[in-house]
Amino acid sequence: MKIAVLPGDGIGQEITVQSVRVLKALGLSMELEEAPVGGAAYDISGDPLPEATLKLAKASEAILFGSIGGPQYDTLPRAKRPEQALLGLRKQLNLFANLRPSIVYPELVNASTLKPEVVSGLDVLILRELTGDIYFGQPRGIRTVEKGPWAGQREGFDTMHYAEGEVRRIMHVGFIAARKRGKKLCSVDKSNVLETSQLWRDVATEVAKEYADVEFSSMYVDNAAMQLVRNPKQFDVIVTGNIFGDILSDEASMLTGSIGMQPSASLNESRQGLYEPIHGSAPDIAGKNIANPLASILSAAMLLRYSFDQEEAAVKIEKAVRKVLKDGLRTADIYETGTTKVGTKEMGDAVLKAL
Ligand code: IPM
Ligand code: MG
Repeated sequence: MKIAVLPGDGIGQEITVQSVRVLKALGLSMELEEAPVGGAAYDISGDPLPEATLKLAKASEAILFGSIGGPQYDTLPRAKRPEQALLGLRKQLNLFANLRPSIVYPELVNASTLKPEVVSGLDVLILRELTGDIYFGQPRGIRTVEKGPWAGQREGFDTMHYAEGEVRRIMHVGFIAARKRGKKLCSVDKSNVLETSQLWRDVATEVAKEYADVEFSSMYVDNAAMQLVRNPKQFDVIVTGNIFGDILSDEASMLTGSIGMQPSASLNESRQGLYEPIHGSAPDIAGKNIANPLASILSAAMLLRYSFDQEEAAVKIEKAVRKVLKDGLRTADIYETGTTKVGTKEMGDAVLKAL
């Protein structure tokens, strides 16, 4: 089991330390190798995704990724910004299927800003296409407007597109996942306005015919955003494109109480995967030992499950996380009166002990 460890920036460093401890404690034979990525790599080499890091990632079956970004990098030219490392890894490794589960643990039902009855028992999987859409579409840029009322001014532009095959392959991943879960799949688009979405919906509807045992529906993205807070339990698997999935998965994460609890897996066709919390680098709390390491620890569980078929070990980690929550341990983001507030490292200690 060859795993690249890319902690990145901000809280990425301290949370990844904890998930690495957890992985090492399992007694499985694995080879872990660390490399810089994002702002941390830019600071050393002037490149957010150095050749050596990319090479290590490509040669590994799985990548444990922390987080990237920080205000000091926001004014760099786009190609040098930390985000480019993550986008580059996703694209170069063809990690098109991004699994973002939102599960409400019974212990955290009061941590959500929504009423307990709305979120209790929630288990939805957002499957986000990750290598296409307006994120990668060409042409894009900033140009000068030639004619019309804005002539002479600068204009920003991007291109949204999806090829049939790109939609088809993510739909198959979605339907196969739905089959193993609640047997419901909702495809989310904006086909009332966008051509890209019209094609998306047509292809989704076609693929759905191959999965008659899965209840299929399509929904506009604005309605989906509303339904997610109105009645999130109507969903089982949501399949959507890159930009809509980015937005909806942040929204869904808060149903569970904290974005600090949300792991993710980004997989390619050979099950090579990048595993990361869906939260960012949170520079304001970095280095203070207050970040929640559970999203990273749960990402390590997904890593074992999806890239190595180590279901038993994955479940062990998830059970250990449940146990510490049951024991009342909470980092600041999920703290409520009557529970015990702990730091990043102490949360890691507790998960190890429960393991
Ligand atoms: C995410 C993040 C990234 C994205 C950024 C950091 C490029 O928001 O993984 O959701 O937009 O995909
Ligand atoms: Mg995002």
